[in-house]
Parts: sequence; structure tokens; C-alpha cells
Amino acid sequence: MSLNMSRSGASKLQGRLRRAKRVAVLTGAGVSAESGVPTFRGTDGLWRQYRAEDLATPEAFRRDPKLVWEWYDWRRQLIAKCQPNPAHQAIAALERDAPEFLLITQNVDGLHRKAGSVRLVELHGNLWHVRCVRDERTMENFDVPLRQIPPRCECGAPLRPEVVWFGEALPAEALRQAFDAAESCEVFLVVGTSAVVQPAASLPMIARGHGAYVVEVNLEPTPLTSIAHESHYGKAGEILPRLLGFPSGRPGSDNFEFRNSNFAISPPDPHR
Ligand code: OAD
Repeated sequence: MSLNMSRSGASKLQGRLRRAKRVAVLTGAGVSAESGVPTFRGTDGLWRQYRAEDLATPEAFRRDPKLVWEWYDWRRQLIAKCQPNPAHQAIAALERDAPEFLLITQNVDGLHRKAGSVRLVELHGNLWHVRCVRDERTMENFDVPLRQIPPRCECGAPLRPEVVWFGEALPAEALRQAFDAAESCEVFLVVGTSAVVQPAASLPMIARGHGAYVVEVNLEPTPLTSIAHESHYGKAGEILPRLLGFPSGRPGSDNFEFRNSNFAISPPDPHR
């Protein structure tokens, strides 16, 4: 793996992080790619194989809830087998050292929480949460595979995945926190997003406009590259631990010491 700096020479990120009181991170599907979760727009991306109109809109759910749930059930089965990778772990470690921190994720897979992230907002919802279509009650559901499709609420009405579909509003409180963080942070890190879906894609621009140091990690240039102070191209699971100053090694393994002069953390508690 080579770490490419697009313009900046040596990375200033660690120095900036040491001084920063407020740090924000935005992630997309790329951060989970090395865990085995498919992205949306890459060569094997979900939106290359399936039509979002058939599976990820309120109209699609009204038309054919069984089809929509079969697709989500397949994704849940796939994701249930996936574990957080070193990129998730590095972000969780960063949080533990930052006085004020917000992780803003577009991912619905729950892997950030599994890695130990706590201060996070899930802008597009969570695949492991469901909502009653009648009384709007939300609850966790970890059945893999689902016992019945569509799954049903105690009241008898169908449940839907608690995710944001095309044409739907994002959760208001999560959005408010995300914008607040973008406007007030000193460092804004963007990892593994194609930055084409709004409003998430505008957050790094807002951060930059408010004076944040913006650093991007992706396999390739994105629309954000032109506004980022640093862009690092390659796999997030390889780049991020080094970029943040962690020693090489696999977080979570018995002999791994996730510790250096800037960051001192303990392994994530799986029950958090
Ligand atoms: P995309 O699939 O659009 O983009 C994934 C990005 O991750 C691309 O820019 C890849 O280059 C990059 N990438 C892939 N593997 C990587 C790796 N190992 N390390 C670093 N980068 C890598 O996914 P998102 O940007 O998350 O919304 O898509 C945003 C939203 O569009 C999703 O949340 C979803 C989708 O429609 C909804 O479902 C509402």
C-alpha cells in the first residue's frame, strides 16, 4: 500500500488533531468495503446490480413489501457475517482522544458501533432497526434471517426497515448535529464516500467554509478532492491507522497495542 499525498507533502493531520478541540468524521460505504460490505457505486456496487426505484423508495415498499424486505434480509444476512476493519477501529480510537467529536455516517450496517464508536449519528438510518408502519414505533431487530417477511409489529401491522429511502427526509436531529459539527469542528475527516448524495456531501464543504482542516481518504479522487487540504488514495483500512499515528497491526488482536504518544486507548468493549 502506498500513501499518496495529493498536494500537501507530509501529512499535517496528526498535528492538527493534537491541537483540535472539535473533530468530525464523515464516512460512507467505502469504510466498510474491507469488511466485505458492498458499496453502492463501485464496479460491483449495489446500484449497478439493482434499481434503487424497485428497492429503496416508499413507493417500492407500498407496491411490494415482500420484495423490498427480501433484499434487506439478504443484506442483513451478509452484514451479520462482517466484522469492523482497522478503519472502523481507528475512527473509534480517534473518538476516545477527542474532547468534542462526532462521527457522521451514511452507512446503515452498524459496524461503527460494533467497533466501539459512541458519539455518532447515522444519517441514513440503521439496518438493524425497524419501524411499525402504523404507530411509527421503532425497535431493534437482529433476526437473521428474518422469521417472517415482511416482519410484523406486535400490533399486527408490517414493519419497515428504519432506513432513509430515496425521496424521504433525513432524521432531523441527526442532521442538526451533523451540520453543527461541520460548522464548529477544527478537523473534518472524510472516509470512503463518493460524495454525490446530499446533504451528506455538502458537510465537508461547510466545514471547510468554517475554517476546518479537511482530509479525505478514498480509493480515488472525488468531488471533494478539490476542497480537501489533504487527499490520501488507497484502502481506508490500510491508510487510516497509519495516518492517525497508530502502529501497524490489527486492532482487536491479542498482541496488538493500540497506543502511541498521541492516542492511548483500550480495545473496544463489545457490549457498549
Ligand atoms: P458509494 O458506493 O457511492 O461510494 C463509496 C466510495 O468509497 C467510493 O468513492 C469508493 O472509491 C470508496 N471506496 C471503496 N472502497 C474503499 C476502501 N477500501 N477504502 C476507501 N475508500 C473506498 O457509497 P456512499 O458514498 O456511502 O444512501 O453512498 C452514499 C449513499 O448513496 C448511501 O448511504 C446510500 C446510497 O444510495 C441511501 O441508501 C439513502
